[in-house]
Amino acid sequence: MTVTATSLRIDRSRLLTRIDELAQIGALPVEGREGGSSRLALTDADGAGRDLVTSWMADLGLRVDIDGIGNVVGTWPADRLDPPVLTGSHIDTVATGGRYDGNLGVLAGLEVVETLIEAVADGDVELEHPLAVGFFTNEEGSRFAPDMLGSLVYVGGLPLEEALDTVAIDGAILGDELERIGYVGGMPCPARPPAAFVELHIEQGPVLESDGITIGAVTGVQGISWQELTLTGQSNHAGTTPIDLRHDAGYVAAAVAVAVRRMASETPGLVGTVGRIDLHPGLINVVAARATITVDLRHADEPALTSAEARLAAEVAELATTEGVDVSWRPLARFDPVRFDPKVVDLVEDVATAHGRSVRRMASGAGHDAQMLARVCPAGMIFTPSVAGISHNPTEFTEPDDLEAGANILLDVILRLATAAGTTP
Ligand code: GLV
Ligand code: MN
Ligand code: MN
Repeated sequence: MTVTATSLRIDRSRLLTRIDELAQIGALPVEGREGGSSRLALTDADGAGRDLVTSWMADLGLRVDIDGIGNVVGTWPADRLDPPVLTGSHIDTVATGGRYDGNLGVLAGLEVVETLIEAVADGDVELEHPLAVGFFTNEEGSRFAPDMLGSLVYVGGLPLEEALDTVAIDGAILGDELERIGYVGGMPCPARPPAAFVELHIEQGPVLESDGITIGAVTGVQGISWQELTLTGQSNHAGTTPIDLRHDAGYVAAAVAVAVRRMASETPGLVGTVGRIDLHPGLINVVAARATITVDLRHADEPALTSAEARLAAEVAELATTEGVDVSWRPLARFDPVRFDPKVVDLVEDVATAHGRSVRRMASGAGHDAQMLARVCPAGMIFTPSVAGISHNPTEFTEPDDLEAGANILLDVILRLATAAGTTP
């Protein structure tokens, strides 16, 4: 389909200023360049970030609704209760986060809403649907598993009470932390499905940059499997215990990490990561009695992900038996691969082309709130390039021109979805 680009444009400096201001909360300075942020979900820093973004929503005259899991949605016009065209993402970060992951989608969404409010006031556009911008609780999943927890509850994929009982890696209870930072709200969840959901996000990988492309029209998200393994052996003296008499949980943990890498190298499309290894007692001269490790496996094909999980289980069992350690498994997250609404994908591609931007269809390697929203409404995503493909790292960077291009394409996509004359999926 041929579409003509809207003449409306977002305000680049307003967007960049807000990104910078939010990044100062939990700032992680990087020498000689802009830095990242550390705002693990429901920490004080996350609370301060929430307060800032919520104040910006209120300043724009949005009705700010907070639900029982702390998802925050700002709607305009404030008196409209019918399903909005929703955009947004998350503002929590990994502990060593960049300034764009999630934050871009929320702040570009705010910028789109502000631009459209001005356009309506000027009589330039008329909207059929209300507009909304939101941020979802604990997208990252680094502190509380699973990831995308807030959007999962939002769409009815996890009961609220169960989500509130989630225990953090630091022992805190999610419901207590939410209350502590003042984000237990009364908006019911699961929420009423929006008319559509579109999320702008940095790619967090190298594909767009290496292909010299500005915009990704995201076709879907690969499946995710997160598990925690606790290996229990026997601590003993590092100098006196013969190697063949050890029950070394640390050795098995390391061997599992090697097995995960080998599986990923041997299986096309599979990525696998052991991101955490905690050894107890964790001393130089003591054979580890216990190891707690996490395994993150992802694949775009559901049967391939399932068979990777089975192979992992078999390899871990063999390693553990050989070393004489016990293994217990705790599933932390399991999400099937997701395909976005083809009409939304087409719309993103057509709008990007109309804006004179190079665009390619691509799957997402990272998890996103849009994959949860896709369960209840037409949903899709727009990607902008990540310099050197670096993310979950304070040096994460996207060129301001690309941020602006992505936000303008988000603006046009949201406008079309929200107007009677627009292309509605
Ligand atoms: C969320 O950032 C993920 O791990 O994909
Ligand atoms: Mn993200
Ligand atoms: Mn992330």
